[in-house]
Amino acid sequence: MLTVDDLKDLQGKKVFVRVDFNVPQKNGVIRDDNRIRAALPTLKALVGKGARLIVTSHLGKIKWKEPDSEKIEAMKAANNLECAANRLGELLPETKVYFCPENTGETVKKAVSELKDGEILVLQNTRYQKGEEKNNPELAAEWASLADAFVMDAFGSAHRAHASTVGVPEILKGEGKPVALGYLMIKEVENLSRCVEVKDSDRPYVAILGGFKVSDKIKVIDTLLKKCDYVLIGGAMSYTFKKALGAPIGTSPFEEDQLDYAKKCLEEAKGKLILPVDSVVSDKFDENEPRTIKVVDEIPDGFEGLDIGPKTCEEYAKIISKAKMVFWNGPAGVFEQKDFQAGTIAICEAIAKLDGKAFTVCGGGDSASAVKQFGFKDKFSHVSTGGGASLEMIENDGHLPGVDVLR
Ligand code: 3PG
Repeated sequence: MLTVDDLKDLQGKKVFVRVDFNVPQKNGVIRDDNRIRAALPTLKALVGKGARLIVTSHLGKIKWKEPDSEKIEAMKAANNLECAANRLGELLPETKVYFCPENTGETVKKAVSELKDGEILVLQNTRYQKGEEKNNPELAAEWASLADAFVMDAFGSAHRAHASTVGVPEILKGEGKPVALGYLMIKEVENLSRCVEVKDSDRPYVAILGGFKVSDKIKVIDTLLKKCDYVLIGGAMSYTFKKALGAPIGTSPFEEDQLDYAKKCLEEAKGKLILPVDSVVSDKFDENEPRTIKVVDEIPDGFEGLDIGPKTCEEYAKIISKAKMVFWNGPAGVFEQKDFQAGTIAICEAIAKLDGKAFTVCGGGDSASAVKQFGFKDKFSHVSTGGGASLEMIENDGHLPGVDVLR
C-alpha cells in the first residue's frame, strides 16, 4: 500500500483527503477536537508538498429514512461540518482553510478550481448526500472527478464502505491515480494489527470489554476468546451474562435474546471469560433524583447495576498486572456520573501500572473518552480514534473496507 510519503510531485495536484472529523459537538461548539488534531500530520505533509486539499468527512447521523423533510433539514443543520473546518483553520494558522457549505455541484467545482497550492477546502458533511452511506456510484464518480489522488486518514470511518471512503478510491485507482494511507491510518493499523496477530511474547493477552449490549459485540467476543488468555467483562453487557448464569440482576438491563448465546459462550470459554463478582447499584439512574447507592455481591430487586464493584476492580487489576498485551473497549460503568466512575478509573490505573512493561491499546469510543477525561492517555501504548473501526478490525482479522480498497 502507498503512504503519504510515497506521493511525490504533488505540487498543484488536487488530493481528495477523507478524514474523520466526526467530533462531539452541539450547536457548532466542539467538545473534543482530538480527531481533528489526529489528522494534522497528514494534512500538514500534503500542504507542505504543495497539494490542493479537498478535505471530506461525515459528522453525526442523518436518518434518510425519515419521511418528514423538515426533520431531515433539522438533522442536517445539527450536523453542519463548518465547526470542524473552523477549528482546523485555528489549528493550522499558516494555512488557508476554506469551507464549502455544499459538497456536490457547481459551487464545489468552482471552489476547487479557485484553490491554490497548499490550501485546504473542507466540503460540507458527506452525509448530507443520501448516496454517501450507500456508496452510490454517481456520487463517488462526482467526487472522484475533482481529484488527482486520494488519501485515507479517517480510521474511525474505515469500517464503512461508503462513497467517500471506498467509492472514490476505487474509481481513482481504476484510473491509475495514486491512493494512499495517511499517517493516522498507518499508526492505527500498525498498532491494532498487533492485537490481531498475537505473538507468544505478547502473552498473557488480556481483553477488557464493556459497554451496553452483548449483541453489538458478539463477533468481537468470539474472536477475542480465541485470541486472548482472559476476557474481562464490565459495563451493562455483564448483566446478560450474569442473568444467563441465573444470578439476580435486579432492574439491570439485559438482552433476553442473547441469553442462550451468553450461556454457550461461558461454557465454551472454559474460565477465560471473567465476570464481575460485585457491583455498584442504585435504585435510580438519574443523578438529580434522591437515590440509594450501595455495593453488593448480588443485585437486589429494584436496584440496577451501574458499575463494577471494588472486589471486581481488585480481581481485574490482578489479572491485568500480569498481562503483556491489553486491548480495552467499553467502559466498566456509567463513568459520566461521579458515583459510577470508580470501575473505569480502576481499569485505567491497572493499565497505567503496566507502562513500559506491556503493549496496551484502548480501542476508541467511550473508553477513549474516559482515558482522556481521567488523564491516562499518555499511559497507553495506543489510544485509537475509532471505536467501531478498531472492533471490526479485530473481528475481521485485520481487514477493513477503507483499508482493503487501498491495497
Ligand atoms: C465513529 O464515531 O465511530 C466514526 O466516526 C463512525 O461514525 P458512524 O458510526 O456514524 O459511521
